[in-house]
Amino acid sequence: MNVPIATPPLTVRPLSPVMGAEAIGVDLSRPLDEATFQAIHRAFLDASVLVLRDQRLTPEQHVAFSKRFGPLSIHVKDEFLYPGIPEILILSNRKHPDGRPMGFEDAGRYWHTDMSYVEEPPLGSLLHAVEIPPVGGDTIFCNMYLAYDALPDAMKARIASLRGVHSFVASFEGKTKAGASRGTLTDEQKKKLTDAVHPMVRTHPETGRKALYVNPGFTYKVEGMGEAEGLALLEELFAHSTQDRFLYRHVWQPHDLVFWDNRCAMHHATTYEPRYIRHMQRTTVKGDRPV
Ligand code: SIN
Repeated sequence: MNVPIATPPLTVRPLSPVMGAEAIGVDLSRPLDEATFQAIHRAFLDASVLVLRDQRLTPEQHVAFSKRFGPLSIHVKDEFLYPGIPEILILSNRKHPDGRPMGFEDAGRYWHTDMSYVEEPPLGSLLHAVEIPPVGGDTIFCNMYLAYDALPDAMKARIASLRGVHSFVASFEGKTKAGASRGTLTDEQKKKLTDAVHPMVRTHPETGRKALYVNPGFTYKVEGMGEAEGLALLEELFAHSTQDRFLYRHVWQPHDLVFWDNRCAMHHATTYEPRYIRHMQRTTVKGDRPV
């Protein structure tokens, strides 16, 4: 008798009432049929943060899956790119035998959306947990749809046509001065980084929902507004959006692959004890100009 080979169905379960879902029953190291890919894509759009559990992926498989969502970005910190596979950015406290850092050790330890300082910021990022500490090193996510929806009508009207100015250099140099361990930016790297100006409220190109699009990591002024007034407005929006009611805290499990939507979510990496290794690998899918 011919018995069809059963492939396990994809199960998607919410992780919190705010955002986040986990997908179980898919092995991304194997060829992915279109129907399963579409189910993953749908779950990602619905949850804004999709956790694909227990993915034993090579860097090549990580890149291949990420490319199903679009072309990938190459990060400006080229010293932390995976050797021979520049689409992968290493976030890690591991060191090379000569003592050089293998990855961006304290990347993202502040609220931000990835690379909002470019003209066409990435639609999403896929972070793979290769090695995680037994405690700490969680990633907190913030639902910027909900943050926008909860704004008073007067604030929605005030920011409706305002644009925020985003910069990597301003934020990087500020954090380096504050003692972060992240190396320096070379003149060559700085040349590739100009400010980007984006609407403070963007409409998600796939879901059609409005989301607040400013972040403490990279948004440092409001176009056409005085410095003090702009900063006061941004601070108010940052404090509003990072309230507990908009947050989901992801406690990593080994081999999680977490795919977050930069168009409607901010995130914040948390610290861990330096005696433990936290070694993560990230791909970043290009997106379009926020409108
Ligand atoms: C990031 O991509 O911002 C880092 C997130 C993390 O390491 O948890």
